Amino acid sequence: MSKKIIPIIQTANRLDNWLATTQMQTTTGSLLDTRQRPLQDLRISVTDRCNFRCTYCMPKEVFNKDYPYLPHGDLLSFEEILRIAQLFVAHGVRKIRLTGGEPLLRKNIEDLVAMLSVLRTVDGEAIDLTLTTNGALLGRKAQALKDAGLSRITVSLDALDDTMFKRMNDVDFPVGDVLDGIRAASTAGFTNIKINMVVKGGTNDQEVIPMARYFKSSGHILRFIEYMDVGASNGWKLDEVVPSAEIIEKLEQAGMRLQPLGSQSASETATRWQHSDGQGEIGFISSVSQAFCHSCSRARLSTQGKLYTCLFASEGHDLRALLRHQQEDQVDQRLSHLIAQVWQTRDDHYSEMRHQQTDLTQRKKIEMSYIGG
Ligand code: GTP
Ligand code: 5AD
Ligand code: SF4
Ligand code: SF4
Repeated sequence: MSKKIIPIIQTANRLDNWLATTQMQTTTGSLLDTRQRPLQDLRISVTDRCNFRCTYCMPKEVFNKDYPYLPHGDLLSFEEILRIAQLFVAHGVRKIRLTGGEPLLRKNIEDLVAMLSVLRTVDGEAIDLTLTTNGALLGRKAQALKDAGLSRITVSLDALDDTMFKRMNDVDFPVGDVLDGIRAASTAGFTNIKINMVVKGGTNDQEVIPMARYFKSSGHILRFIEYMDVGASNGWKLDEVVPSAEIIEKLEQAGMRLQPLGSQSASETATRWQHSDGQGEIGFISSVSQAFCHSCSRARLSTQGKLYTCLFASEGHDLRALLRHQQEDQVDQRLSHLIAQVWQTRDDHYSEMRHQQTDLTQRKKIEMSYIGG
């Protein structure tokens, strides 16, 4: 027996024991965790690879040619993803986000979109199916994604200045090509496109005002994200985090007045604002200065098929082991039951504890490119 198989069998045996001790829960329609948070969103990472090397996510020194990216056979197939997604939807999930790494690098990603787009929530509504991309391949892919049934799209963009943008992506990728990609998404029929900018103090914070001006009348929603201590590679330092309150101040000093907008859903990550002349929505994702764990309804499925209940989790639950190593007729019920068990015992609230426990930021954490952004 090869060394590689041993942990998979062990995991399956452990799951067997766990599953055998409790009554099967299959289609629950809704699940609450120990903090009364419903399971509503599923974020699926479709690849751990990316064509950018953003310093805050996949720094070049770590993600180089020697980095152990997953071999193709380790990735969940589209059929496996669909099968797992269906079970989550039966437990109450209404929003699915495809992420990575860079999801557009996954071959024929539009086929997966088409497969997922036919899912319906437990109330019979269409799933909110969306995707986060760095935009590099969007010019080529936007129309196919729209045609396949993608509901919405989010583009990561950390600067407008070409030199700064290249410094952020660290692979010399020109900003013009991403802006073309965003235009292609608009032309393909995507509306309310979200533009996500991670603000790293002392690096791209000078880009905040130009970004706000540029996107003000674009019809797109610009969101500023606080730089987080996710993963173990980015050398995160608290003094590089620019709190949202400081960004609001910067915008006001530059003559931009903002007024708050109400929230659209209880579990949203961003607080929503708009320019006081009614033009242009701006969001703030303040997971460091104002954690939003209290309403976190997000489950994450890693590229390899592990279920994580927090972006900062150290361990995942191996759904793929169950999917690939059990007898055919029991698999869906057992997976469904496992998902219910995991969610109902969930207590994660990392971002709320970050400031209370200094050793917390040192603990083993999974990379964002693996678990999905
Ligand atoms: P919408 O449904 O379009 O509003 O998307 P979203 O904000 O739920 O997801 P998106 O991928 O756009 O999230 C933007 C950024 O927010 C991510 O890249 C992360 O930086 C951060 N983020 C998203 N979800 C979480 C989370 O559960 N915990 C923390 N701490 N940060 C998160
Ligand atoms: N802090 C905040 N957001 C991050 N992302 C990746 N790394 C970080 C980090 N350290 C998010 C960004 C990017 C998406 C793919 O992942 O929003 O747009
Ligand atoms: Fe790639 Fe997005 Fe990570 Fe940048 S933030 S390295 S574009 S996955
Ligand atoms: Fe959810 Fe964990 Fe993020 Fe808190 S830190 S919002 S629990 S994913």
